[in-house]
Amino acid sequence: SNSDLIKEACQELILDDKTMREIMKRFLHEIQLGLKKETHPAADIKCFITYVQDLPNGKEKGRFLALDLGGTNFRVLLIHLKGDSEFEMQSKIYAIPQSIMIGSGTQLFDHIAECLANFIKEHKLQNERLPLGFTFSFPLKQLGLTKGILIRWTKGFNCEGVVDRDVVELLEEALKRRGDVSIEICAILNDTTGTLMSCAWKNHNCKIGAIVGTGSNACYVERVENAELYDGPANGKEYVLINTEWGAFGDNGALDFIRTQYDREMDEFSINKGKQTVEKMISGMYMGELVRLALVRFTKEGLLFGGQGSDLLFKRYQFFTKYVSEIESDKPGTFFNCYDVLEEIGIFHATDEDCANVRYICECISSRAAHLSSAGIATLINKMNDPSVTVGVDGSVYRFHPKFHDLMMVKIRELVHDHIQFDIMLSEDGSGRGAALVAAVASRDAHE
Ligand code: BG6
Ligand code: GLC
Repeated sequence: SNSDLIKEACQELILDDKTMREIMKRFLHEIQLGLKKETHPAADIKCFITYVQDLPNGKEKGRFLALDLGGTNFRVLLIHLKGDSEFEMQSKIYAIPQSIMIGSGTQLFDHIAECLANFIKEHKLQNERLPLGFTFSFPLKQLGLTKGILIRWTKGFNCEGVVDRDVVELLEEALKRRGDVSIEICAILNDTTGTLMSCAWKNHNCKIGAIVGTGSNACYVERVENAELYDGPANGKEYVLINTEWGAFGDNGALDFIRTQYDREMDEFSINKGKQTVEKMISGMYMGELVRLALVRFTKEGLLFGGQGSDLLFKRYQFFTKYVSEIESDKPGTFFNCYDVLEEIGIFHATDEDCANVRYICECISSRAAHLSSAGIATLINKMNDPSVTVGVDGSVYRFHPKFHDLMMVKIRELVHDHIQFDIMLSEDGSGRGAALVAAVASRDAHE
């Protein structure tokens, strides 16, 4: 039957135990290359030093501004940390038009500065010089807590003249051009770092922060002696947070043995061909498109929808990742959401069998994403080898996909050493509270 043929063709999307162990082995190898001075330049997983060395203790205090660039939304935030694990936060989302995402760097930073200026005016903060934490969720080679050189754009961004530049300086220049904003940039951080800090604020066992959202990445606590690129002060501190930038795993071909025709076609038509290989297999920017490519294939082979698609089905990026979550949220044996989604893309002639097959395809692709992120997290947990670890996770895929959390729990349990206890929790407000905490810890250090 059609279902049997589709199931058979989807086998290549299923990662069995042996494959998972091989992926973890290669993943660990790349992490180790990234950490070592000699091999770092050639490593795919860069393991950037963050210069964040202290986890919060809950006593941090003060008012902070934060910027959050790189996820679904660009936001400006005002955070008030009140000590004893209390806080208040206000935030506003601002649009970043597509033309700016792929325009000039000057335009981008002028836009960010303008949004910040408007936010400051609306909240009547003109007369205060507040510390600001800048969550900038792209690969940065950090040279300190307030200096970060952009290595490459990822996800949907590609602004000219920013790669190889210090983005803190670019923001400061844009603010200077306006002349109406007085703030002090205290820290630049990745969203995974914010996620880890935000989770660690209440849960002192949190040692990994991961994102499965528009993009995918993780940050973890490493011993300074293993972080060969650490060139910060000899302050006697034992640990430093590492931003792995695991999204680039596979760029050297290490994952070719599991890549499918959908992955190759996705890459071919992306704005960063050959880059961010595993990110394209995991994250929300691509998941819907991978499903669409499989649906197109099976429609063309006559195995779905009686061989008849629709204009939208054949249009790139028109099958949204949220559709995958909706389809997989249908109760077993029912297809209400599935029929709705198919109608939204102009398919009105689907049968129950089609729906069951569409759901199966979604499950294969989302499970593969959950298992690849589990391989990454389990590798980090085993590497740290602490008896117990909490993993803070954020991002739209983790939040909204109905089975992602459970899939990860089961898979990570299979993959980590038996003696290790772990937990995964949603870490909220990474770029708000997390950024404020990084800024707070930084200003605490500066004043000590
Ligand atoms: C948000 C964080 O909750 O999640 C951001 O505040 C982060 O900093 C984002 O980048 C990641 O998820 P998504 O789905 O918006 O890319
Ligand atoms: C991309 C970025 C990375 C970020 C991740 C999640 O992989 O390169 O810095 O953490 O997306 O937003």
